[in-house]
Amino acid sequence: MRIFVAVFNLIFDIMKARKLIAGAALMAAMPLMAQETSQIRLHPEQANQVIPKEIYGQFAEHLGTCIYGGLWVGEDSKIPNTDGYRNDVLQALKDLKVPVLRWPGGCFADEYHWRDGIGPKENRPRMVNNNWGGTVEDNSFGTHEFLNLCELLECEPYVSMNVGSGTVQETAQWVEYMTAEDGPMAKLRKQNGREKPWKVKYIGVGNESWGCGGNMRPEYYADLYRRYQTYCRSYNGNELFKIASGSGEYDLHWTEVLMDRARNFMNGLSLHYYTVAGWTGSKGSATDFSTEDYYWTMGKCLDIENCILEHMRIMDEYDPQKRVALMVDEWGTWWDEEPGTIKGHLYQQNTMRDAFVAALSLNVFHKYTDRIKMANIAQVANVLQSMILTKDDKMVLTPTYYVFQMYNVHQDATYLPLDVLCATKQVRAQMGRDGGQRTLPLLGATASRAKDGTVHISLSNVDLEKANEVTVDLAGLGVNAVSGQILTCKQISDKNTFEQPDVVKPAGFKDAKVSKGKLVVKVPPMSIVALELK
Ligand code: AHR
Repeated sequence: MRIFVAVFNLIFDIMKARKLIAGAALMAAMPLMAQETSQIRLHPEQANQVIPKEIYGQFAEHLGTCIYGGLWVGEDSKIPNTDGYRNDVLQALKDLKVPVLRWPGGCFADEYHWRDGIGPKENRPRMVNNNWGGTVEDNSFGTHEFLNLCELLECEPYVSMNVGSGTVQETAQWVEYMTAEDGPMAKLRKQNGREKPWKVKYIGVGNESWGCGGNMRPEYYADLYRRYQTYCRSYNGNELFKIASGSGEYDLHWTEVLMDRARNFMNGLSLHYYTVAGWTGSKGSATDFSTEDYYWTMGKCLDIENCILEHMRIMDEYDPQKRVALMVDEWGTWWDEEPGTIKGHLYQQNTMRDAFVAALSLNVFHKYTDRIKMANIAQVANVLQSMILTKDDKMVLTPTYYVFQMYNVHQDATYLPLDVLCATKQVRAQMGRDGGQRTLPLLGATASRAKDGTVHISLSNVDLEKANEVTVDLAGLGVNAVSGQILTCKQISDKNTFEQPDVVKPAGFKDAKVSKGKLVVKVPPMSIVALELK
């Protein structure tokens, strides 16, 4: 084994010297082995970026049962609750250390009129959720309910303003209502039972303004953005961080125009990227998929790195100081709705495949935190790639939840840049049809160092069949003891259900050893391993 590792070390050094790390063609050409072998080299000497905890942000839209039923059941519900928030979900989200929660949408935000959601509940008008299945909502979850939830979770609120169908005055007054100490809006807030203003840092000025948020052209939206944000004031030292509606996937023109015309008026520009097979027709089942579909998913989710790089290249041209942040405020998997659920509610199950999408995407965000300051997975409960699924009084935590839990040690830790030398696989670039190939690295990895010196390394072996023996050079880190957790499964489509909630769940992991300045980890196939080194 030692000879084997030495040979790999040599190959690693030669490839690094020739700047061929990503190529890894040599590895692919080697004789087939019962397990893969990978090398990781950490670069503590280059560590100069903190991973903002907001990279672990969540998103709660008025969509299906995300808010009503998922987070909120109302004070009179039989489901155990605290002031209307269900207790089981509240505790699960506290355990997750949610740093920031985006609300009320999404597409919903551009049809939401905040005044409908304040005051005595019996006086609040009902509304039709036109974007999402035409469901009628009673507005019992509004501004107070959202901001109080953020206080309970000790997270930052991120409020999306209505630019699509709202007015400048409505937007300006909402900010005043939430954050002013005094004045007419503060008086109204006080009448509604909240004396002190809330602290609201993040505001989104429109959402997907190129689509559901108004079908605008970027030139028009850039002007509208400049106008709306002018009247969003920072009251009483509550400094607003203003986020412009950004591109969907590869709409580089949108980013170009916004950066050209409005960059001086924004703190952040958003980006939405979904791991989705296409916007029309079937997106594929969340639970019933082929091996090929699985590998396509891994490739598609990793393509977010290329997408981010393209947008950041434009941002760098206009803003080389990196003053404007890129906010990936919607990301995750998007599959067909679960059979038998309400159309338009985007309720989907969540398997170990989704867990890998979460881990690999977080790995990418960690790399670019000089520009990316926030990311919000869509969504927190019962919608798309959820953390939590609920049904009446039952709650289940998804494989994605567990990735966020295992990874939350990286929040506010210093990123450790790394090189990974691993085997790759050619995978289909487009789901269900020919259309080129992508090269998929079979090992995902990220690492950080906490303030107390503890090093955390997270490894994803996306190979469905082969284990991966990973060697990590620990030189210069001053750590020599390791402990770990593993998230794995028998089949890649394994999931947690209300009947069997613990099928995919983290467990203790022992197959990692430190010796002579090297960490050697045997990562089973289809596994995500989180290691702590002291
Ligand atoms: O997350 C679901 C929807 O996806 C959001 O409402 C919208 O912004 C995006 O298209």
